[in-house]
Amino acid sequence: MTISRPHFARVCGPPVRFEGANVTLITEPAEWRRVLDAGRSSGRTVGVVPTMGALHAGHLSLIRLAGAQRDLVAVTDYVNPLQFAPSEDLAAYPRDLERDCALAEEVGAHVVFAPAPAQMWPPAGRPATTVSVGALGDRLEGAARPGHFAGVATVVTKLLSLAGACWAYFGEKDWQQLAVVRRLVADLSLPAAVVACPTVRNDDGLALSSRNAYLGAAERAVAPKLYWALLAGRRSVEDGEQDPEAVRAAMAAVIGRETSMILDYGEVADPEDLTTPARVGGEVRLLAAARLGRTRLIDNISAVSPHHRAPADGGH
Ligand code: PAJ
Repeated sequence: MTISRPHFARVCGPPVRFEGANVTLITEPAEWRRVLDAGRSSGRTVGVVPTMGALHAGHLSLIRLAGAQRDLVAVTDYVNPLQFAPSEDLAAYPRDLERDCALAEEVGAHVVFAPAPAQMWPPAGRPATTVSVGALGDRLEGAARPGHFAGVATVVTKLLSLAGACWAYFGEKDWQQLAVVRRLVADLSLPAAVVACPTVRNDDGLALSSRNAYLGAAERAVAPKLYWALLAGRRSVEDGEQDPEAVRAAMAAVIGRETSMILDYGEVADPEDLTTPARVGGEVRLLAAARLGRTRLIDNISAVSPHHRAPADGGH
């Protein structure tokens, strides 16, 4: 790929910095590791923000937070084939590295790591070694997208292994992904501290997502109903509903009125392991996914029940 903006360069040897540019584009995994090692050696703390590019204000909020908290901010920009099923939108996924670099730079990133697929995985395209987080990766999104979280867990493990000691910023927008990343970082003792960042929404409540670009005007008008469904679930939990089925029904009723939107799931779950409690109590996570035409949207919010969490909730 050619980067036309004059002050961006593909860095395949030592990092090149052009006059006036504050961001260094790196494509070589070994070079990325070297640059972050050098940063730490000079006493800088490192913040890593993994993304698949097509940056929007949600991503930028993560980069800004990393910039406010750490000295050296590295954004990864890589559309990871391992987390897409053959039927999914890997080829169509929006890509614009030049724009991403400019936006990342504007909000304070120092490094953008954008490897080509061949630099990440062997020529056959799939590594022999993969990372699985067991049942946590099989429910909800994992049930709808078999293999998705193994793909995410494998690439995140690789990115964080290359990055070394860092703070790693992930959005709450993808709550199950956040739970998966926390689990693998803990289980594999990766030297990363996971920082959870709040979901950025449009004024009408729709959570920002790169996939919102796929929505036609009519679909875009309906899309905020996914968030409304979550709010209905939250109201039901806050009103003291303890039966998970009734909370699910409160969410489904909102989507049920909308013929163009098909609810995949609207679930009430333990915030960490995402199991459904027998009785709703304490703080829970409400998670929902819906299809709108060919686009799949996901969202989640927290809800706090006036009831204590029952010990039999399968707690830990
Ligand atoms: P991507 O979908 O590009 O998201 C990158 C990061 O931005 C994730 O941590 C995601 O949760 C966060 N994010 C997305 N939309 C957000 C919003 N509206 N508000 C706040 N944060 C938001 O998630 C991935 O990429 C990939 O699975 C990845 C972790 C990079 C592995 O390939």
